[in-house]
Amino acid sequence: MDKLVSTSGYGEYPSEKGASSDHQHQITQHPSRSLRSYTGIACKILLLIHAFALLLWHVLPLLAPPRPILEIDGVPSFVLKYAPLVWLDKSERYFPSDIYQQVKNTDPAINFTKIENASHPLTLDNLDNLNRFGRHGFNVFLTSKLDVETSPFWLEGIAPNSDGKTSGARSCAIIINDRGNCEVDAFYMYFYAYNLGNTVFLQELGDHIGDWEHNMIRFVKGEPTLMWFSQHGNGQAFKYGAVEKEGVRPYTYSARGSHANYGIAGTHDHSIPNLNLPSGFLSDLTSRGFLWDPTLSAYFYNYSGNDGAFSAITGESPVGAMNFRGKWGDERYPDSDPRQRTFFGFKKYDNGPTGPWAKALNRTKICPDNGLACIIRGSLGP
Ligand SMILES: *[C@@H]1O[C@H](CO)[C@@H](O)[C@H](O)[C@H]1NC(C)=O
Ligand SMILES: *[C@@H]1O[C@H](CO)[C@@H](O)[C@H](O)[C@H]1NC(C)=O
Ligand SMILES: *[C@@H]1O[C@H](CO)[C@@H](O)[C@H](O)[C@H]1NC(C)=O
Ligand SMILES: *[C@@H]1O[C@H](CO)[C@@H](O)[C@H](O)[C@H]1NC(C)=O
Repeated sequence: MDKLVSTSGYGEYPSEKGASSDHQHQITQHPSRSLRSYTGIACKILLLIHAFALLLWHVLPLLAPPRPILEIDGVPSFVLKYAPLVWLDKSERYFPSDIYQQVKNTDPAINFTKIENASHPLTLDNLDNLNRFGRHGFNVFLTSKLDVETSPFWLEGIAPNSDGKTSGARSCAIIINDRGNCEVDAFYMYFYAYNLGNTVFLQELGDHIGDWEHNMIRFVKGEPTLMWFSQHGNGQAFKYGAVEKEGVRPYTYSARGSHANYGIAGTHDHSIPNLNLPSGFLSDLTSRGFLWDPTLSAYFYNYSGNDGAFSAITGESPVGAMNFRGKWGDERYPDSDPRQRTFFGFKKYDNGPTGPWAKALNRTKICPDNGLACIIRGSLGP
């Protein structure tokens, strides 16, 4: 008895020694009743805060001044009206980048040897002249003039301004494939100068110079029906009705560093094929950091599924950049290169990416025709 009371922590209560069990009951219940009401109030406050945050989340975008709807001669109005808006992560360090900068800051090389007799100067218009070298250009790599490990500043790209524009940086290519039968696929290709891979067991894996990612929206009679999000070689498909939007424009969330596209903010597990890691070891992070409107700094092209040809819709859109068959960054450094590191067969530095032409622009389904199952999701998920 004595012991029970003295360890209850309320020793200041009078006459505890002779307390009846009733009295003792009161003593111990009194504080717990008030505690309960405190937690009740705390819960209500939390609920209120939560409700308020939810309200802000949904209402703020509506309060923002409406985004002007672009009109560009030769571009179907629905391609711009329903164009995705890209949420870059709050801790992103590698922003969308100017496509021509990539050419200016690199030398074309084959097997780490600079192509000396390439066109001078190389531009986005004559970039496909490089297809005359090596294996029809496929093994040409735009190779950084500066050592990647000196952190050349051009790899960081341009953060969007308050209008969502990557000012001074053409960082998107919008490619339209009119498939006939009132079906139009619009590809929104996002360009980043650098891809920072994921860190696994403190090892950075899969970094590369150059990064092309995309969304595709399939329109039927000018109405958006389905949307594709590119992620690490494959991706996810959603019904247009399911995706988050500002007005009618879908949101895509670009993962920190890797720029894989997701439908929601949060943590996204993904795996490297054949590397069996426990779930959670390889995760992409997305959040509402910086909002980028890629239509404000884009080139526009038609693509024909008949012959695979690109044509410029706007005068200044360089077709040579679309036809270049090579890679938009350095070749994977050999193991003998001190910068390279290997972890379970995976390299710290990987090859630069192929350009937009290689992103299955003539696909029949919303997913690339790559033999993997094409799952069309009716609700959002990681
Ligand atoms: C690349 O260059 C190295 C030496 O510079 C040579 O040993 C190798 O055979 C070359 N590879 C190809 C595919 O040409
Ligand atoms: C470039 O120069 C090499 C060697 O000098 C030559 O073999 C090759 O034909 C030239 N290529 C072009 C496209 O001019
Ligand atoms: C595009 O796909 C169609 C079939 O869907 C095919 O007939 C055509 O040859 C393809 N075009 C190219 C350039 O591969
Ligand atoms: C683009 O494609 C559309 C539809 O096929 C066509 O009407 C238009 O003339 C094309 N524009 C250019 C610049 O080729």
